[in-house]
Amino acid sequence: MKSAESSDKKNSDPVIPFKFDIEPIDSQHQKLFRIFQRILDNIEQKSGNTEQIIEELEEYTHYHFSTEEDLMKKFDYQEINEHIVQHEIFIQKMLDFKTSQLFQSITLNEEIAGFLRKWFLNHILEYDAKYVDTFKKNLNSENEEK
Ligand SMILES: [Fe+2]
Ligand SMILES: [Fe+2]
Repeated sequence: MKSAESSDKKNSDPVIPFKFDIEPIDSQHQKLFRIFQRILDNIEQKSGNTEQIIEELEEYTHYHFSTEEDLMKKFDYQEINEHIVQHEIFIQKMLDFKTSQLFQSITLNEEIAGFLRKWFLNHILEYDAKYVDTFKKNLNSENEEK
């Protein structure tokens, strides 16, 4: 894992502070990070409607999780089941947040922010980081075959 280079910083977009050197995973993590930052900004500025961004986060997360899971299946990744469980926990949590938003809980936004802050980097650093070797090895040999 190496530090993201400054050339990745377009405008003042928030940039996730590391990358795996695996595409499309890195770009997807960046995009997720930007959505996540928008939710945090929104909550901090108390500008109200986070529903729409959470919707967007949910949608993009589904897309990202299937990209990872498809590659795990393709490359016979040993820890696929544990990883999928982690993805499912996140999806369930997003559903819970959406349900509680119907009741407009005052503490909810802080709860969402706290959860995302913890979950996002932890998942990438603890779980995603484990597939890096397997993905790279397989992607490299795919490239050599071309
Ligand atoms: Fe990921
Ligand atoms: Fe993941």
